[in-house]
Amino acid sequence: QDSLYNESNRPQFHFTSQRGWINDPNGLVYHDEEYHLFYQHNPYEREWENMHWGHAVSKDLIHWQELPTALFPDHLGTMFSGSAAIDYNNTAGYNQGGVPAMIVAYTADNAEKQVQCIAYSLDNGRTFTKDEVNPVIDSKHKWKSKDTRDPKVFWYKPGSHWVMVLNERDGHSIYTSTNLKEWNYESHVTGFWECPELFDLPIDGNPSNTKWVMYGASGTYMLGSFDGKVFRPDAGKYQYTTGSIYAAQTFNNMPDGRRVQIGWGRIDHPGMPFNGMMLLPTELTLRTTKDGPRLFNVPVKETERLFMPMQQWRNLTSDKANRLMDQFDDADCLRIKTTFKLSHATNAGLNLFGQRIVDYDLNYNMLNGVFYSPEDMTSMEISADIYIDRTNIEVFIDGGAYSYSMQRTPDGNNKEGFHFWGNNIEVKNLEVFGAKSIWK
Ligand code: FRU
Repeated sequence: QDSLYNESNRPQFHFTSQRGWINDPNGLVYHDEEYHLFYQHNPYEREWENMHWGHAVSKDLIHWQELPTALFPDHLGTMFSGSAAIDYNNTAGYNQGGVPAMIVAYTADNAEKQVQCIAYSLDNGRTFTKDEVNPVIDSKHKWKSKDTRDPKVFWYKPGSHWVMVLNERDGHSIYTSTNLKEWNYESHVTGFWECPELFDLPIDGNPSNTKWVMYGASGTYMLGSFDGKVFRPDAGKYQYTTGSIYAAQTFNNMPDGRRVQIGWGRIDHPGMPFNGMMLLPTELTLRTTKDGPRLFNVPVKETERLFMPMQQWRNLTSDKANRLMDQFDDADCLRIKTTFKLSHATNAGLNLFGQRIVDYDLNYNMLNGVFYSPEDMTSMEISADIYIDRTNIEVFIDGGAYSYSMQRTPDGNNKEGFHFWGNNIEVKNLEVFGAKSIWK
């Protein structure tokens, strides 16, 4: 497939479709030794319109094989976002000869309303059948709103039932079902918009101390408890990621219990036959911080295989670091890990051709324009793991305590290249890695 994925603005270690528009990841599920990535897709144009579900599979979360379109628009509407699960207990009655059905729950969008539907596959997501029971939820009237969409479905083991989290008007609702076809409304949490998620995670890896995480499309989340029907938040909302990321979803049925997320990168791809991209798969964990448990987000360990160490330096002045980085100014695929200490500066950072990749203001606790309070305020250090891939940049701060992504703007008139700035900062660590293409 290499000849098809070799355009000049094609990200080299992120998933993009061969042609057409993509947005939200949908139906993330691991099954039968394959990771499935479905996604919002307009197969015909570079613009958002005429939603289908595209489909790709992977053995390692890194190298993806694009498959034919999975869901097509029908009489109920176009195919908006949703999720996938495997019906091991044959609750919906679709299983055949010991083959468990893959079920997708999605929204059909038409001019009047958005309704929730299901479809099943007995061939590992290659083809789907839509049941005549659709729609399984039609809630416009109840909410007096057209905005009812993006079902995330998972099996709730303690109660032996299905749970659906659904965006309805001003927040996320919870529905339950025993057969995926009849759904009971249970509860609602306000303060979220689009693409709901709900899952539990151990705190600091301790399986007997867990919390539930609810999040929405924008990267804000709440921590709380969940009894199978009601999510009760402990407190308010936090933000774990921002920038170009939107509508992230996590995998159902991960074989090793990890909570792995893929987000849509709202990145423009000028002049390309495709548009939009998926960001790196990341592992979500809960860790105790000075402010209580918080969500951490780092690229999955599988991504390490893509990067080859090229240089490592320690304890440099910013001038020295800038001279050493000159040789990489023209590289468009690179990973950079750095830790710098502000010392006498109240703000400092790293630019690329004038674009602020890292911009940390210790005085106002701001990182690239967003409030950020490091765990250790006395060290005056900040670390960043930076992934540059032609059209986009992803940054993971302080081991995943916070992350963000942005469009790469390579064509500024500013010729400074990589440039650390800030009064007398110390570059304690600087590592540069080359990147392997996933398309070769
Ligand atoms: C989020 C979203 C979803 C919707 C889909 C349509 O980006 O607006 O709420 O289902 O995109 O493409």
